[in-house]
Amino acid sequence: MKDTIILAIESSCDETSCAILKNDELVANIVSTQIEVHQKYGGVMPEIASRLHLENIICVIDEALNKANITLEDVDAFAVTRGPGLIGALHVGLQAIKTLSLIYNKPIIPVHHLCGHIYANEYIDELKFPLLAVVVSGGNTELVLMKDNLEFEIIGETKDDAIGESFDKVARVLGLPYPGGIQIDKLAKEGKHTYNLPTPLHDGSLNVSYSGLKTAVINLVHKLEQNHETVNIKDLAKSFQDIAVNMIIDRVKKAVNQYEIKEIVLAGGVSANSYLREEITRIFKDTNIKVIIPPLWCTTDNAAMIAKVASHLYKKKIFAPLSIGVDPSWRIEDYNKF
Ligand code: KG4
Repeated sequence: MKDTIILAIESSCDETSCAILKNDELVANIVSTQIEVHQKYGGVMPEIASRLHLENIICVIDEALNKANITLEDVDAFAVTRGPGLIGALHVGLQAIKTLSLIYNKPIIPVHHLCGHIYANEYIDELKFPLLAVVVSGGNTELVLMKDNLEFEIIGETKDDAIGESFDKVARVLGLPYPGGIQIDKLAKEGKHTYNLPTPLHDGSLNVSYSGLKTAVINLVHKLEQNHETVNIKDLAKSFQDIAVNMIIDRVKKAVNQYEIKEIVLAGGVSANSYLREEITRIFKDTNIKVIIPPLWCTTDNAAMIAKVASHLYKKKIFAPLSIGVDPSWRIEDYNKF
């Protein structure tokens, strides 16, 4: 039987990536990161991100084809992250895929970025439904109930900032480099929870809020500086991280009580957080709910996760016309609407 080959592109933020899946086996996953460039500005500069994607996209495609030892003629479908993400950055990936689709007359598969983060976990284990996906990233924070394969229902989400965004902004006020999440994670390991910070949003729902917590840390740091008092960065990192992570864990516990859930899956950049990984594992250890923790390479943006979702969509023939555009705020529930 002929091989089924999917080529996927990810360019939603600051990583340009191309992956190739051959009969569901990952044969290439090339990632070019722009982090060093954005570090100079303390965060991702959207215009610079788009330009770097343009410079890098052909290189990652070429490298992936070489690694997989195939040519573009062998590809059966071209997949791409359509959203959510930075509009200009998304356009680079989509235009590349449209061009390839037009030249080689093969279908386009548009993929939702957060579906990608969830399905990245399939590289380590089969997903069992109903599952609760805890999507925690730089741009999104959502609890997604999946009653079945490719069925998504947002049952809780942030009312303002994403959790990763709050880690990055708190890190910035503490003078730590971008992306700040990993720096806070490291410092918190050596700190104590000594600072009294508010836990916002107690409305009993499954929603979260990070803007108030972030502002409280920023105000505290400014006040201490004005009074010429030193900030204990390790303790403040620990105090902030405890509240930020415990807020999401509290909603996960509530969700598990409200819905029938067999499995919990962590997804997105903040799922690299060591305290979150330890706590979720510890809390559900002796229960009949299985917890899947993604390997660290799956927590950062990559096209392998986009290719994984695309393989499911390919089987269902969920293809897009050449007129398709990007959607920077695409909802996961609308993953098949474009
Ligand atoms: O998934 P991702 O690339 O963002 C989006 O696609 O939106 O995740 C990046 C986010 C950044 O905010 C980064 O600070 C955070 O993930 N992050 C972490 C850790 N590693 C990355 N946050 C907390 N602890 C970490 N270890």
